Formats: sequence, structure tokens, C-alpha cells
Amino acid sequence: MLDLTPDRASLDPIEIASRDEISALQLERLKWSLRHAYDNVPHYRNSFDAAGAHPDDLKDLSDLAKFPFTVKSDLRDNYPFGMFAVPREKLARIHASSGTTGKPTVVGYTQNDVDMWASAVARSMRASGTRPGDMVHVAYGYGLFTGGLGAHYGAEKLGCTVVPVGGGMTARQITLIDDFKPTTIMVTPSYALSLLDSFREAGLDPRESSLQVGIFGAEPWTNAMRAEIEEAFDMHAVDIYGLSEVIGPGVANECVETKDGPTIWEDHFYPEIINPETGEPVADGEMGELVFTSLTKEAFPIIRYRTRDLSRLLPGTARSMRRMEKITGRSDDMIILRGVNVFPTQIEEQLMKVAALAPHFQIELSRDGRMDAMTVNVEAAGSDIGQAERRAAAGDLASRIKDVIGITATVSVQDVGGVARSQGKAVRVVDNRPK
Ligand code: DLL
Repeated sequence: MLDLTPDRASLDPIEIASRDEISALQLERLKWSLRHAYDNVPHYRNSFDAAGAHPDDLKDLSDLAKFPFTVKSDLRDNYPFGMFAVPREKLARIHASSGTTGKPTVVGYTQNDVDMWASAVARSMRASGTRPGDMVHVAYGYGLFTGGLGAHYGAEKLGCTVVPVGGGMTARQITLIDDFKPTTIMVTPSYALSLLDSFREAGLDPRESSLQVGIFGAEPWTNAMRAEIEEAFDMHAVDIYGLSEVIGPGVANECVETKDGPTIWEDHFYPEIINPETGEPVADGEMGELVFTSLTKEAFPIIRYRTRDLSRLLPGTARSMRRMEKITGRSDDMIILRGVNVFPTQIEEQLMKVAALAPHFQIELSRDGRMDAMTVNVEAAGSDIGQAERRAAAGDLASRIKDVIGITATVSVQDVGGVARSQGKAVRVVDNRPK
């Protein structure tokens, strides 16, 4: 793979500033953001008052812990526009994420917010190894989802040629990649696997494709999956993280030279890790729930937003800004099976070790009498894999799951194409247990 480490001179100076400079900027911006939220959003005024916390109380970054959290239901309760800090006419853009239940979560951007977001994504792409002048194939969905348009504006800002393909029509995506020869692709990791299959079905060698960099996010994926994708496409695979409530993609991004967890763009998004049970902040290096406060957003300031994503904060390596550990799961995705906590990524990690199995999978939960049961539906790695080999592969995966994770699962090996293909965020768990 090519060395795509960006020139230090091309970085934003703050990416490599001293920690003191970063903290000073954060403090100044945090004061502004708390004040802006308090003065312009009734929800924040009420919740700060109820907690006895006033924006003037913030003297130091650690004082942020005195302020109340914001959770998803606060956004729902203020649906659609109640959390906005500017009059509706000042909004340049609205996005929304479809929750699993009820009304979507609505977020808004002023023109300055759209510009800041584009800069954060452009910075993310540069960190990934994409350079001005590159062609970028965007296969994240366009529309209310922040993936497509977020990637699109960032790529334009960096000075790239954007191919705004969006999700779906997989065979056509392959034709476009083969004909246009983009060097960067931005897509969910699960859809990248669908594209990989399509490459092979079209009789093309993905290693011979023009792609040099894949910027993958919007769902959890493991380092084992990274190794598989990098090998299959002969390209760098880096992790982009973000969520609509904070801005969209580009809150954090891995640096191609280290690939050691996303660097958080701390000049715009202030991270904390808390103990999800007590709400207390924990020290850097300790696992917990990721919480973000926006430092510069105008339309939709977000204070101490509980993401439900589990990670830990790590010191900077390729940049001065801190990193987050690659997300292994959300508290919402955690399966509790007979008392054992399991994340789908743990299954993914074991699955990648069994050569006769393809990396597509879906977990099905059912109830067998009074006991919960898990079936892992996977696919044979090729149509040439016979029954005996499938049985052996199923046994191999089941015993890895038992030995490493500590649960008993049934593994069902399907034909190629037997597991529903992702065109965006993969659905990893189907829960058929009676409510
Ligand atoms: O998924 C924004 C995004 C688009 C990020 C494209 C990266 C690329 P939401 O739909 O609001 O926004 O979903 C946010 O997705 O809280 C995580 O649980 C999960 N997520 C996002 N990026 C990653 C990642 C977009 N790199 C939710 N690794 C977040 C693991 C991720 N999970």
C-alpha cells in the first residue's frame, strides 16, 4: 500500500498545537457554547437552572461536570425545532436520524455550521490519506442521513472531485468505480463488503481497482474486518466516527499513518467519558460512555450529549489531539444472553478467523422455553464449499464463541447470498424473543 501520510505543513496548525494551546482554545469556546445554549434554548436554561449550574460557573474545563447531560429523549421532547438556538430562518440545513421508535431526531445547521462541518470532514479525509485533486466515490446514503451530504461537502472543501453515488444499485457502483477510477471511497464497512462481492461477481479483481483509501464509519467494525478489507482491496481502511446530534460524520477520524483509533477534532467537539451507571466522569484511559459537547455550533449547540457509544480516551499519537478507542459497541446494541454481555463486534472478530466463512452475518435471538438462544447466521465463503466443510466451519465458530466470549450459540451456515446484504448500516441483531 502507498504511504499516504499527509505533509505536516498541510495540517491545520491546531491539529499539532501544544496541549496547553488546545485546552486554552477549548475553555474559551466552551464558555461561549454554554452561554449560547443558556441564552437561546429554553431547554438548556431550564436544565442548567434546575441543576444549579450557570455558564459563569465554568472557570476550568473540569467545571463542565457540573452541567447536566443531554439525552436523546430531550431531543424528542423538543421535536422538531425546540433545541435550536437560532430562528428557523437562519438555518441553512436540516438533517434527521430515524430512531427505532417514534419521531426522528432533528438537527439543524447555520451556514457557518455547514462550513465548520465541511472543514471537519475535509480534515478527516486528509488524515485518511485523501489529497486535493483526488476523486472520491461517496456511497453513504444521501438525504436526511448525515453520511452522504456530510462526506460530500467535506470532499468538495478538500478540493476533490466528488462522485455522489449514494447507497444501493450495487452493480452500477462497481461499473462507476471501474470506469471513473476514484482513489477514495466513503461507505459503511458492511456495504463495502457487499461491493467486494459485486467486484468478484463482475469478474474484476478488487486489488487491481483504483481505490487507495476507504473511509469507513456509521457502524461498528473491528480491526479484523480492517485487515480483511485492506487485503481484499489493497487499500488503506480508516475509521470515521460521528453522530447527527454532534454534527454528523467527522467528529473524529483515524490517521492513516497510525490507524490506532479515531483522533477527536477537539477544537470543535469536547469529549468526556463517563461511568454510564453513575454519570461520573472517569479518567482518560478508562472505558465508559462517550459524551460530547459542541464548542462552536450555532444552530444546534449540544451540551454533554450522552452518545451511548462505549470507548475510552487515549493520548494523541499522529496529532496532539486525543484519540478515542475504536468503538466496539453501543450500550443499546449490547445483547445480554443468559447473563453474559455480548456485542456483535465480538462475534465479528471470531467469524473473521474462520476461513470457510464470509464476513456477512446476522445474529438472531429467540426464546427456547425459558432460555434465551442465539443463532449466528453466516455465509459460506464460496459456492464451492461443501456440506462437510460447512459443518466443520460452524463447529469451529461455535467453539470460538464459547471459548472466547463464553456463550453457547448455534451457527447456521447459509449459501452465498443467504444473509441479507447491507446497503448502509447493517442490521446485526434480529430479536425474535417475545416481549
Ligand atoms: O452515522 C454519522 C456518520 C456517517 C458517521 C457516516 C460516519 C460515517 P447517526 O446516524 O446519527 O450518524 O448515527 C450515529 O452511529 O452514535 C455510533 O453508534 C454509530 N457510529 C458512527 N460512526 C461509527 C464508527 C452517523 N466509526 C451512531 N464506529 C453513533 C462505530 C459508529 N460506530
